[in-house]
Amino acid sequence: MSYSRIAGTGSDLPERIVTNTELESRIDTSDAWIVSRTGIEARHVAAEDETTSDLARRAAERAMESAGVTADDIDLIIVATTTPDMVFPSTACILQAKLGVKQGAAFDIQAVCTGFIYALATADKLVASGAHRCALVVGAEVFSRLLDWNDRRTCVLFGDGAGAVVIQQSDEPGIYSSHLHADGSHGHILQVTGGIAEGKVRGNPYLEMDGQAVFKLAVRVLGECAKEALAHNGFDASVLDWLIPHQANMRIIKATADRVGLPMDKVVTTVARHGNTSAASVPLALDTAVRDGRIAAGQHVMLQGVGGGMTWGSILLRW
Ligand code: ACO
Repeated sequence: MSYSRIAGTGSDLPERIVTNTELESRIDTSDAWIVSRTGIEARHVAAEDETTSDLARRAAERAMESAGVTADDIDLIIVATTTPDMVFPSTACILQAKLGVKQGAAFDIQAVCTGFIYALATADKLVASGAHRCALVVGAEVFSRLLDWNDRRTCVLFGDGAGAVVIQQSDEPGIYSSHLHADGSHGHILQVTGGIAEGKVRGNPYLEMDGQAVFKLAVRVLGECAKEALAHNGFDASVLDWLIPHQANMRIIKATADRVGLPMDKVVTTVARHGNTSAASVPLALDTAVRDGRIAAGQHVMLQGVGGGMTWGSILLRW
């Protein structure tokens, strides 16, 4: 039986940092409210001319460097994003050209904040089966462009960034299993309805959210899909060295850790400094914990996402 394994990680954040204090000066909010409700202290926001593929390119180059691979080795690129550079070509194809990759397949996946989990699960199947040898999987977003910066209920929550991994075939796990879910009947609790039609945006171009409904669903499904992944592999929570959940909100993360039965010192969190970077949040947190030495060879790591759709999922792996 063959598996895939993560061979390298990378990430990128725009230079500009927007603190809660800066937001206090622009809208009717406070650092105390944002920190107590979400744990977010600051977020990075892309420059006007900076695109999702720019962030993705820098994260991808760092992941390729840490995996010791070049553009000639990559034969599959999957980009998870809700904020593509344009309607088409896909951001994955744009990234392929920027990296100078000439071979293989490239496509985007859209599962909002679960996008990276969907993308890595897909790449795992394609690499473990032998259909592809070396995949670049990227979560990249400029979510700041979907926000009404006068709407205090949503604009304080999100940030921009990108994270990437390189995966390759392996005789041993690597990725043990992935568990993907969706329930489209909850689509309305987190949405951007705007689309392009007849040269105009039809619908609302900005993010709309029922915060409390999202909160309740996120805590329930993250707990469920963590237990599902553990049970599927005959493990219990004690096997986990690290949980890396989607970084939406510190209260959701703590409630999830509680449901899984893990102490917070086994949970990687970056939400305080990054805000919610949607599809980029999990690979950004993973890269942070790999580079600061927390994640070590042989450890068991669970990655988890939840987002618009609603979609959710988990991936269990050995580092
Ligand atoms: N600053 C100050 N006051 C605010 C702000 C703000 N930024 N935002 C809302 N308020 C006010 C509201 O207007 C309301 O005032 P009112 O009572 O006078 O009307 C009051 O605070 C309470 O509002 P609620 O929406 O009830 O606040 P709640 O305690 O539910 O917290 C929050 C809101 C933080 C959004 C919470 O519901 C939450 O964390 N939900 C999860 C949503 C999430 O994380 N989404 C991310 C995207 S989804 C994903 O990634 C899975």
